[in-house]
Amino acid sequence: MKIKHLKLTNFRNYQKLDLKFNENLNIIYGKNGMGKTNLVEAIYTLALTKSFRTNDDQILIKKDEVSTKIEGEVETNTNNNYEVVINELGKKVKIDGNIISKLSDYVTNINIVLLEPEEQMIFSSSPSERRKLLNIEISQLKKHYISYLNNYNHLLKQRNSYLKDLDIVKNENDSYLEIITNKLIEYGLKICEFRESFIKEVNNYINKKYQDVFKKGTLEVKYTSDYQNKTKEEIYNIYKKNFKREVLMGKTLQGVHHDDMIFYLDGNNIIERGSNGQKKNAIFAFKLAEIEIIYQEKGNYPILILDDLFSALDNEKIKNIIKILNNNIQTFITTTDLEKVDKILLKDALLINISEGEVKES
Ligand SMILES: Nc1ncnc2c1ncn2[C@@H]1O[C@H](COP(=O)(O)OP(=O)(O)OP(=O)(O)O)[C@@H](O)[C@H]1O
Ligand SMILES: [Mg+2]
Repeated sequence: MKIKHLKLTNFRNYQKLDLKFNENLNIIYGKNGMGKTNLVEAIYTLALTKSFRTNDDQILIKKDEVSTKIEGEVETNTNNNYEVVINELGKKVKIDGNIISKLSDYVTNINIVLLEPEEQMIFSSSPSERRKLLNIEISQLKKHYISYLNNYNHLLKQRNSYLKDLDIVKNENDSYLEIITNKLIEYGLKICEFRESFIKEVNNYINKKYQDVFKKGTLEVKYTSDYQNKTKEEIYNIYKKNFKREVLMGKTLQGVHHDDMIFYLDGNNIIERGSNGQKKNAIFAFKLAEIEIIYQEKGNYPILILDDLFSALDNEKIKNIIKILNNNIQTFITTTDLEKVDKILLKDALLINISEGEVKES
């Protein structure tokens, strides 16, 4: 997958931008706050219809403007024109001029693997960031995943608010609750299946990738879920058993909204025992595994974005990463310091100098 051409209108600090990219390496450089991350954020948003930095689409619109447009020509197996428009009414996406109403028909087309400094958040104590990462990755690959997830979350909300209103004594065999519980389990099991098989795929690659770059250690990821290895009936019985406690607490106590993904380095949970460096390395290996998974599924490498790479890793590790990256992977690197980039890399790269939301001719 290669993005050949990008046009921005009123995106973040870009008023107008019209840029053609290199099919291999693109190095975006400039001082702090100039718009380097904004540029890769635009590419990410073109692919996945939302930013990795904010959940609020409106923030992407240039200050004092009313709408933003991102347009790109992307080569997957054929060349297609993609477009994302955001205004105060919401968001519209198009492929070759046709409005795509189902998000899942859009986001499975352009695959992106992103590495950025904030990624370490996935090792915070709460599993929600890890689930978010899983969701982003799987929805790029599997068309139905987003709708299963939306259905599950919708049912969960309904179930929770219903539980809050229930009277324990009267409603032990509540038929409405039975219906939403069964539906919740149905979608939850589908989500569980997707997540389980994705993590299995990750484990096919992650350890090898970790060792290629970091030379030592054994890395493995384990999926944990309340639904794992259980039948529909078994899960239903758990809900039944917990019914009183759920009413008392006014929320659903079991389900895939508690799923987690645990990284083990040399057998130790990395959250409990890992150093900061080991955590960064584990995320890198995870992302490198993802590149391979996308290639296996799509027959095409994803676009790779490495935001602020040099703040995350030292030069030697970066050299190892670049070495194992296939030449067919279109890569975007942002940096404040071009001096840090290996001369060999600079030779074939497109250098894009950004200043105050504009490309500086160099
Ligand atoms: N909606 C917006 N409208 C106008 N300007 C914006 C908007 N959102 C962000 N900016 C501006 O974009 C700039 C930040 O851009 P960006 O995050 O891309 O910087 P950067 O070049 O990646 O910097 P660093 O090297 O520090 O990571 C800030 O000056 C910010 O004020
Ligand atoms: Mg930045």
